[in-house]
Amino acid sequence: MTRIRKAIFPVAGLGTRFLPATKAMPKEMLTVVDRPLIQHVVDEARQAGIEHFIFVTGRNKNVIEDHFDRQFELEMTLDERGKRNELSALENDLPGAGNTSFTRQQSPLGLGHAVWCARELVGREPFALLLPDVLVQHPRGCLAQMIDAANEIGDKANIIAVEEVPHDRVSSYGVVGVGEAKGKAFAITKMVEKPKPADAPSNLIITGRYILQPEVFDILEKQERGAGGEIQLTDAMLQLMAKQKFYGLKFDGRSFDCGSKIGFLSANVAYALERPDIAPEFRDEIRKLLG
Ligand code: UTP
Repeated sequence: MTRIRKAIFPVAGLGTRFLPATKAMPKEMLTVVDRPLIQHVVDEARQAGIEHFIFVTGRNKNVIEDHFDRQFELEMTLDERGKRNELSALENDLPGAGNTSFTRQQSPLGLGHAVWCARELVGREPFALLLPDVLVQHPRGCLAQMIDAANEIGDKANIIAVEEVPHDRVSSYGVVGVGEAKGKAFAITKMVEKPKPADAPSNLIITGRYILQPEVFDILEKQERGAGGEIQLTDAMLQLMAKQKFYGLKFDGRSFDCGSKIGFLSANVAYALERPDIAPEFRDEIRKLLG
């Protein structure tokens, strides 16, 4: 049984695709319906049984730390006004006291570097990594499905969530090569960052959720800058693949890249349409907009 207790949330990126919204506000605080992206992703991790939440932050990101703290003035006011539901919803959203950690990346040197910054907080145990700008909509969250797969596979498995895209779009993503099936997952034979469609080993792309073994930190420690001058996680995973097995899981559910405008807007529509309190009225509004 693989026990995954800790999850890393890298939130130190600059969010340049979402300027000017992200000039003073972190991208991870953009809301999908009425919850910040980071709350949606923390919810997914809690649903999967994660106990400790590690945020790798940067400048301008203090509001994320405040979001995962109590807000006494607000709570007092809600209490005085008898708003019990709102009050208990706020409480339910919070990981327990002492169950969050925040560390600074200092310079945004890339995702690989952000993950490495969490090494002391993770220690020598397997961990989950969730990119907060990717949302996966499914009643059983993506990470929970991955932990099920990890338990099926057994010890020392690195697992990456993957999904299909049209072949002509692979060049924007990390793409995996598909080996033997292992339960619901399959062995990964290759990983190629942003290949030309003709060179892509499949049309399965890496989707922002990972379960990784702590040995990846040892590799990241010595990792040189790669594509875009950044320390790339994929480069480190490729090296680890020489020593450890990697598996891909084609998860159930629909993903949204909320770091892009279209992905973010689509996520808002999809999540609103699943909310019983607003969906009927919202559906009418969309119909009117579409004429
Ligand atoms: P992205 O490349 O999608 O995020 O990185 P970004 O750099 O913030 O966005 P753009 O491309 O400029 O619009 C994926 C995740 O990795 C984190 C980001 O915060 C995001 O959640 N990240 C990226 C870091 O924490 N540190 C980095 O140096 C780079």
